[in-house]
Amino acid sequence: MADSWVNSAERIGADLHLELTGPGGRRAALIRALREAVRSGRLAPGTRLPPYRSLAADLGVARNTVADAYAELVAEGWLTARQGSGTRVAMGVPPMPFRQWGSAEPPRPAARVPRKAPPRARGPRHDLRQGTPDASAFPRTAWLASYRRALQQAPNEVFGPGDPAGRAELREALTEYLARARGVRTEPGRIVICSGFAHALRLLFGGGVLRGPLAVEAYGLGFHREVLAAAGVRTVPLPLDEHGARVDRLGRERAVLLTPAHQFPTGGPLHPARRAAVIDWARARGGLVLEDDYDGEFRYDRKPVGAVQGLDPEHVIHIGSVSKSLSPAVRLGWMVLPERYVGAALAAKGEREAWASVLDQLCLADFVASGAYDRHVRRMRQRYRGRRDRLVAALAAHAPHIEVTGVAAGLHAVLRLPPGTEASTVKAAVWQGVSLDGLAVFRHPATDMAAGDGLVVGYATASEHAYGPALEALCRALPPP
Ligand SMILES: Cc1ncc(COP(=O)(O)O)c(C=O)c1O
Repeated sequence: MADSWVNSAERIGADLHLELTGPGGRRAALIRALREAVRSGRLAPGTRLPPYRSLAADLGVARNTVADAYAELVAEGWLTARQGSGTRVAMGVPPMPFRQWGSAEPPRPAARVPRKAPPRARGPRHDLRQGTPDASAFPRTAWLASYRRALQQAPNEVFGPGDPAGRAELREALTEYLARARGVRTEPGRIVICSGFAHALRLLFGGGVLRGPLAVEAYGLGFHREVLAAAGVRTVPLPLDEHGARVDRLGRERAVLLTPAHQFPTGGPLHPARRAAVIDWARARGGLVLEDDYDGEFRYDRKPVGAVQGLDPEHVIHIGSVSKSLSPAVRLGWMVLPERYVGAALAAKGEREAWASVLDQLCLADFVASGAYDRHVRRMRQRYRGRRDRLVAALAAHAPHIEVTGVAAGLHAVLRLPPGTEASTVKAAVWQGVSLDGLAVFRHPATDMAAGDGLVVGYATASEHAYGPALEALCRALPPP
């Protein structure tokens, strides 16, 4: 058989793409091309290069040209040649940073570069930031089982273009789950799958489905305010009190964004009278409630507070995702829409963001329908309740003068601090290796209400073994009585 590009590539187990261009003849061009391939990391240290004969055949050059080029690069330290193991890329040649690709002449490799372990991404020593569930608890085995089943059962049409609304299997599973677990009244045709809450905001406001001004809670996630500002939406802060957002202050806004099950970040549920009042406002003004149900499943002391959407599905857009219950990396969420908004939401997805990964959707559909989602949520609820109890106990033992609030639900609590001590306590926490935020980070820049000094302590993020030391470090950072 002729020694073609195809079969020589097979022998080294990888395609070797080299372009022989530039001045100085074929040998010089091959040396440049090989150097560039090593330098850029396309040829990793230790990679075996094709034998002279096959590379010469692939490139249409003489065998000696390849042999000379290899010899030159061995002399320069880019390659090594050893009897019996062929020519390989030298170990310890540092690949060039991506930014510098294409720069004129490479630095020569050092004769010997000591081997170092690759750097690992490092988080803070004690991670008490709010926002993410315990990454070590992702239900890998059950997820894999769902993925396998989903893939085995998927008809061929799954691998064609997707449905912008999302897979019917997932919308059906969510319809059942949301009704059962969150009191949401819907049908699959009113659910649009997206990649999470932030994506829903982008689609609704950036895609022209809804317009501002939008009332928001005076304390909330700054990232969401940025997403809205980028879509040209003016946000109007609503003050909070012990019953949640002051919805009696709603005025000419077209819509209001709330976290009714568990106000983010201060922690209480929206009082039943306020839930009713905001629905009355929406009906009277033709307004809309956007319900961010980000951690509604995690309620510890009694049954979860149901979704406001259940009070009036025609005036609420209910938005949820798996970011707190499973992982923010899965990037799957849902909008439950009044019927009149479904078409516009699908149009907002357009050509580019028409669908989320169909296989992930099918996997989640199986995960929910098989009961694995419920089992995981129940297991995590127990784990987080234990974490919450440990936080409360640690404070009672080491800092009884610090009040802790917002503990009935969710994945974070708020530690109330003496006035004027928030910034210095966050700094003291940094000194103790603890990463967390003060309440001020979440304050709407245009509000005149102040929720007081406080720390937002995320008790889900750390892994089980890291949580105890994190609590001890936190207690050391708290101001004295
Ligand atoms: C207040 C709030 N809403 C929603 C979310 C979920 O965001 P997403 O679904 O975009 O990951 C989070 C997650 O951090 C959150 O803190």
